[in-house]
Amino acid sequence: MIRGLDQLDLTGKTVFVRADFNVPVRDGKITETHRIDSTLPTLRFVLARAGKVLLASHLGRPGGKPDARWSLTPVREHLEKSLARPVALAPDCVGPQVEALVRDPGQKVILLENLRFHKEEEANDPAFSQALASLADVYVNDAFGAAHRAHASTAGMARFFRAKGAGLLLRRELDYLGKALFSPDRPFVVILGGAKVSDKIGMLKNLVPKVDSLLIGGGMAYTFLKARGVAVGKSLIEEEKISLAREIIRLAESRRVPLLLPVDHIAAEQITASPITTGADIPANYMGLDIGPKTVDRFCQEIGRAGMALWNGPVGLFEEEKFSRGTRSVAQALVEHGAISIVAGGDTVAAVAQAGVEDKITHLSTGGGATLEFLEGKILPGIQALEEEP
Ligand code: 3PG
Repeated sequence: MIRGLDQLDLTGKTVFVRADFNVPVRDGKITETHRIDSTLPTLRFVLARAGKVLLASHLGRPGGKPDARWSLTPVREHLEKSLARPVALAPDCVGPQVEALVRDPGQKVILLENLRFHKEEEANDPAFSQALASLADVYVNDAFGAAHRAHASTAGMARFFRAKGAGLLLRRELDYLGKALFSPDRPFVVILGGAKVSDKIGMLKNLVPKVDSLLIGGGMAYTFLKARGVAVGKSLIEEEKISLAREIIRLAESRRVPLLLPVDHIAAEQITASPITTGADIPANYMGLDIGPKTVDRFCQEIGRAGMALWNGPVGLFEEEKFSRGTRSVAQALVEHGAISIVAGGDTVAAVAQAGVEDKITHLSTGGGATLEFLEGKILPGIQALEEEP
């Protein structure tokens, strides 16, 4: 059993909220705020009740030592604007200065500095976990994006609390991704894309027996097409994954799950060259860079009959306008028929935003690796650490 926020007594307490504020930052500015914004409902809920709120996150991979390039300063600015109240940035995440700040009655919301400035964070060091835990009365984990990491702040520190639970975002992720895995509305249609088969093998093996149809596009489709003996020209393929692709094809056949691969393509001799539309086979000098119009129709038709659709990975090189039609069409189809739609993965969330339909998607997952591992059926340490006997 994992307690929710409404099952925790937060009144007047000092509450430690582990969030995943690991967002892209360029020249000191956050370029994509989805992850932070998704955790705001939790922060507002806690702020309305708690005496003091400590916010903690990692940012990037600073390698266990302080590095100003990975400071949470831009996150503090964004939080202060979004919450419309002062947010203090502590000089560190543990130590006497932080303790003094936590004791200061004038500070209601304190953002601790990047947890990964200490190598003990990723090492899940018990003394570091205890030092973090000693700052607060209640532990709330809302960092779904980091739940696959067994680190001090995501896993180790939880055992030092009697009062601990999941934030609203973490709960929402578990509800939607859990529904996809264990009780999907049917037909359950999964659309997979992105460059590499290798990233998706575990997920494919776990999902194939659960889905009603599987649509594969994007770079990874060419490895599957090659496995089926289709000519793929000079499309990017993973030679060493062809036998795994064959295994997935056989698994789908044995489970009688329709596995739809592209039947035509938008291809070009180079990314910068003018594209052509090809049939199933791609000419020798060409590479496939988007699904073709017949495939778009077939995929959209299949998505249109879904009760629940899960999408991970663009079906073409959507960053280039001329190769974006397939991905945009999939995004549109997902929101047109009122099915429960779940979109996972940074690129896919970006593609949905580019298509202007992000507000209509039922659930935009904030996890990258965490979502993949969850869908692979793995137990995530950050979630396990919150489990209690009923
Ligand atoms: C992510 O971006 O997937 C999470 O924040 C985890 O980050 P990490 O891969 O650096 O552990």
